[in-house]
Amino acid sequence: MIRKHREADSVSEIRAKTRHGEMTIDQLAEIQPGMAALMKEAGDRFTHTYYAAKGGNWKLAAHHLNQLRASFRTAKTTRPKFAEDLDAYDKEYLLPIFESIRDQDWSRFEAAFRKGEDGSDVYHDKRGYPHIRYLLPKDPPSNLYLGPPEEFKRGSRAAEKTP
Ligand code: HEM
Repeated sequence: MIRKHREADSVSEIRAKTRHGEMTIDQLAEIQPGMAALMKEAGDRFTHTYYAAKGGNWKLAAHHLNQLRASFRTAKTTRPKFAEDLDAYDKEYLLPIFESIRDQDWSRFEAAFRKGEDGSDVYHDKRGYPHIRYLLPKDPPSNLYLGPPEEFKRGSRAAEKTP
């Protein structure tokens, strides 16, 4: 619930109230996710995009890539100084990945994904994080089925396994 103090007339006096207590809207803004949290999300989404495409679950790949792009949009709001770079990366690297998913073209996907890895190095270098290097994990994530949706059968672990 958000309410405005009777005596308050400036935006920063607007307070949010939960059953645990109150905070100002500035405090609420302060605790929104920054680059560290959003990049952790981006890294995970990037990995999931890769393995969903590899398994043939193209809709899941599109879902993860969309969520990666959503985390970039959040970052543009909470950390606007990165907006231009995030947009440039999106256009140069994520769009081609998105198009290869749309066309269900694995070889184009893989080439675009590998370029995306190189591109993340470029931007981490540019922003002063040469020690941060995204690595594709060797094993696929196992919490979601990665194969073609029409082949999924719940019940037997073997059937649930990604082909
Ligand atoms: C798909 C592309 C990208 C991936 C997979 C990726 C991945 C990551 C990962 C895994 C981290 C470390 C997070 C942690 O555990 O603390 C990170 C940090 C970071 N990335 Fe990216 N990144 C990508 C693109 C970019 C772009 C385009 C920018 C440009 C603004 C950027 C800027 C940063 C910054 C500034 C940090 C340090 C955050 C902090 O600790 O404050 N990244 N990235």
